[in-house]
Amino acid sequence: MRKALIVDCCLRGRESRTAKLLSAFVDALPADVEAETLVLEEEALSCLTGAHFMQRQRLLDAGALDHPRFRYARQFAAADLVCVAAPFWDLSFPALLKVYIEQVSVDGITFTAREDGLAGLCRGTDLVFLTTRGGFYEGDPMEMGSRYLDALHTFFGFDRYACVAADGLDVDPAAAPEALAQAIERARALAAGL
Ligand SMILES: Cc1cc2nc3c(=O)[nH]c(=O)nc-3n(C[C@H](O)[C@H](O)[C@H](O)COP(=O)(O)O)c2cc1C
Repeated sequence: MRKALIVDCCLRGRESRTAKLLSAFVDALPADVEAETLVLEEEALSCLTGAHFMQRQRLLDAGALDHPRFRYARQFAAADLVCVAAPFWDLSFPALLKVYIEQVSVDGITFTAREDGLAGLCRGTDLVFLTTRGGFYEGDPMEMGSRYLDALHTFFGFDRYACVAADGLDVDPAAAPEALAQAIERARALAAGL
């Protein structure tokens, strides 16, 4: 079995359109893929500040990569594929996802520094990002969420990156269901082909 890590950063519960996209994606994953879901709202995630940051530095200096606080990074690095789902907030994604990325970015687990530069250590082949947006941002340089995840796929060593986005969901209420339905179909097709 391949392992898929599902990082759920959909923050509006059952109202979330991004959660609907994610649900369709997970349901369409091939039979040999086992999904493990991490609901970020349910995790006690902290920003890297103060004593929390200093403890991390001490553990890294001691090479204690098996410490429990690096469990998110180990889980992320071990997954065969990773799907992140988050709404488009303030031109990118909710801060909670950035806090998670801070926990995942650990030198020696998800990436490493070599003489010739940084190299990703994740075993995953595919990093997928699912998002829904109030406005239309496809191909717009103001869009910083998918572009950031795309950069991370290289940083962490994934082979491929794909984003499925439903755009304009808050622009025209009449058109939103169709835009979401089309994105759901794209998410299903993407999942089925992994
Ligand atoms: C805090 C917040 C910030 C948002 N920022 C943006 C934004 O910068 N641009 C945009 O087009 N839509 C923005 N939106 C709208 C959301 O992208 C849109 O409603 C999205 O579909 C929400 O996903 P959800 O239904 O999964 O919660 C924002 C919504 C919230 C609640």
